[in-house]
Amino acid sequence: MSATKLQAVRGMNDILPPESDWWEEFEERVRTWARAYGYRPIRTPIVEPTALFKRAIGEVTDIVEKEMYSFEDVLNGEHLTLRPEGTAGCVRAVIEHNLLFQGPQRLYYLGPMFRHERPQKGRYRQFHQVGIEALGFAGPDIDAELILMGARLWDELGLQDVRLEINSLGSSEERTAHRRALVEYFRARYDELDEDGKRRLERNPLRILDSKNPAMQELIEGAPRLLDFLGEESRVHFERVLALIEAAGVPYRINPRLVRGLDYYNRTVFEWVTPRLGAQATICAGGRYDGLIEQLGGRPAPAAGFAIGVERLLLLWQMSGGNVTPKVPDVYVVHQGERAEAVAFQLAERLRDLGLDVVLHCGGGSFKSQMKKADASGAALALILGEDEVDSGTVGLKPLRQEAPQQRVAIEACEDAVMQWLYGQEEGDGA
Ligand code: HAM
Repeated sequence: MSATKLQAVRGMNDILPPESDWWEEFEERVRTWARAYGYRPIRTPIVEPTALFKRAIGEVTDIVEKEMYSFEDVLNGEHLTLRPEGTAGCVRAVIEHNLLFQGPQRLYYLGPMFRHERPQKGRYRQFHQVGIEALGFAGPDIDAELILMGARLWDELGLQDVRLEINSLGSSEERTAHRRALVEYFRARYDELDEDGKRRLERNPLRILDSKNPAMQELIEGAPRLLDFLGEESRVHFERVLALIEAAGVPYRINPRLVRGLDYYNRTVFEWVTPRLGAQATICAGGRYDGLIEQLGGRPAPAAGFAIGVERLLLLWQMSGGNVTPKVPDVYVVHQGERAEAVAFQLAERLRDLGLDVVLHCGGGSFKSQMKKADASGAALALILGEDEVDSGTVGLKPLRQEAPQQRVAIEACEDAVMQWLYGQEEGDGA
């Protein structure tokens, strides 16, 4: 019988040990960090109605036009999509459950997103985001908070070469005026536009500024700048954001061409970029999206947020000399014979009751081969139980990381002896 080899879908990665240790460490740090700013976890489904993303992200965007994993549910014909990002689902949930009724909400999430892009280093079809969303806040203070949060996390992780780029997209009226000027500008230079540009000219000219086509860059460089179209309120808001982050000591660069690839943004937008990851330079991005809640059917309320690309961040963390030591067990229990096995099970559970990490040897084998496994596990101590030990009510205790003889301790005294070895010794060493 010939079977096709089963493999993971292209662009969707397995995350295996020891790489997965980095992920866990990162996720733990993220939770602590988000809590430190008063953000609470939200978990929304990975599958949402396709219409949600069309309405939130915009019909004429790369994501909606060509990157969504959309399908029809064969059982009931519903049009569904694997979420390409987390903001839309988060906002849907906040509206659906009336969360803003209780006041503004600071929320965060962490999980897989899906975009059908061409996979390369730092770009995948299943990737992960940490998302931070602050809903119901209108002022520039929250924009500044979001930026300070990023700066703190990079600092805590020791990331090198991360820079903040920031821009303001103004209000929809200001964008309309800018859009008019932009269309006029590009119309006058229609022949210099590429195919995508021509198509986008009428439907979504702002997206032309987002083009990665090198042949278009000069044309884009000369286009009217949105910053020059900002009205008083937008200008004051932007200036206050800049003043707050400046006072906090976060350097930034205003990038008037920063437009973001999703349509829901207004006013402040920002990206954290690094020159270290080649073409996939953005490790984190976001901004204000004051119109989205209303656009998705909620009572009008302002909001802002950002998302970190976890794969990119971990690459950079590793390149910056980040150090995650794999967690090793405290104790490895080896045993031989049925009576010893039963005692070993009980003993391991008792040690876990004390909060220790204990690996109980499974699968039999000689003491010698079990001790090799104990050593390879990285555990500090091995506990040894054979017929002799069971007969005499004792257990063998063998330090694995130091030259020290094996001891025999009474089984009732085993927990104390283990704790003494693991913690007492350390204190003694340090004194
Ligand atoms: P985004 O810019 O589309 O924004 O994605 C945020 C980050 O996710 C990117 O900067 C990048 O680090 C990572 N990312 C995106 N696509 C991929 C991919 N194919 N492979 C690996 N990493 C990727 C959003 O998604 C918005 N929801 C952010 C936001 C939250 N705005 C307000 N709140």
